[in-house]
Amino acid sequence: MILWLLFLVLASWFRLKYPHVAMGAVASSAPILQFDDITPWSSFDDTVSQDFKSESLNCFSVIKAVWDVLDDRGSNHTGLLELSKTFRACKTVQSADSLGNWLATAFTYTAMVDYPTPANFMMNLPAYPVKEMCKIIDSFPTGADVIDKAFAAASLYYNYTGDQKCFQVEGDDDPHGLNGWGWQYCTEMVMPMTGSNESMFPPASFSYENTSEDCLRYYGVRPRMHWITTEYGGHKIDKVLKRFGSNIIFSNGMRDPWSRGG
Ligand SMILES: *[C@@H]1O[C@H](CO)[C@@H](O)[C@H](O)[C@H]1NC(C)=O
Ligand SMILES: *[C@@H]1O[C@H](CO)[C@@H](O)[C@H](O)[C@H]1NC(C)=O
Ligand SMILES: *[C@@H]1O[C@H](CO)[C@@H](O)[C@H](O)[C@H]1NC(C)=O
Ligand SMILES: *[C@@H]1O[C@H](CO)[C@@H](O)[C@H](O)[C@H]1NC(C)=O
Repeated sequence: MILWLLFLVLASWFRLKYPHVAMGAVASSAPILQFDDITPWSSFDDTVSQDFKSESLNCFSVIKAVWDVLDDRGSNHTGLLELSKTFRACKTVQSADSLGNWLATAFTYTAMVDYPTPANFMMNLPAYPVKEMCKIIDSFPTGADVIDKAFAAASLYYNYTGDQKCFQVEGDDDPHGLNGWGWQYCTEMVMPMTGSNESMFPPASFSYENTSEDCLRYYGVRPRMHWITTEYGGHKIDKVLKRFGSNIIFSNGMRDPWSRGG
């Protein structure tokens, strides 16, 4: 998710920082306001959820229901073995969290690349992939297992080309080279994110203290929480841009999960 966040915010920040070099910038999907308390922390998850809801309420409800079922069945070894088969995992998974993350990644990334044409930015996907996922979910009989429904929808993201023998649910697979984001996040780009009651994802909270402790544990650094807004601004951005940052075109579709932050 972040790889491109970096591309996109960088255009506007470059223009602000080097006005003598760049006469303007096209900043498409650039959440320069997704920091501090400028944008509601739940806006990203809320928009992803809204995208799915706008296709079908059933689709939204199925996804919302899957997390508890997953936690319940994945609570012991037998359950995890069964789930590993259902998810066609290459190796038996060690925790239900991994399966949840695997599903959530599929829904989140698909919302970010919900283009009206076939594309292969993150993965090969058809036009309107969120609509296609919801069609898959809606095509099941009502009483079918929510996990089967959610898995089938997520398979659109991971296996649209049909060439996957099994899924690497856990492990170091990082096809898009996103692991660097953790370091970036933990140094100068902390983006608070939470879930609200509008969300189809499990509840999520955020605290600066916990984030700081996590960063210290993983990377041995403490983040500079407010560095971005100190360096580039963010509060009262309309005034800032008017006075110091002309010729920046911000473009977003409202279905873009980043749209509320930029
Ligand atoms: C595993 O968990 C499931 C669902 O909670 C339960 O029905 C089952 O009896 C449990 N099995 C074992 C071996 O604990
Ligand atoms: C991927 O899709 C193909 C074609 O539908 C299917 O045969 C294969 O089993 C799928 N792979 C997985 C891991 O589900
Ligand atoms: C979500 O919470 C807000 C504020 O607490 C409340 O006004 C709203 O009705 C809730 N929406 C749903 C869908 O529960
Ligand atoms: C922060 O961590 C503590 C201890 O693990 C936990 O109880 C608390 O819920 C966390 N706070 C948030 C907002 O996640």
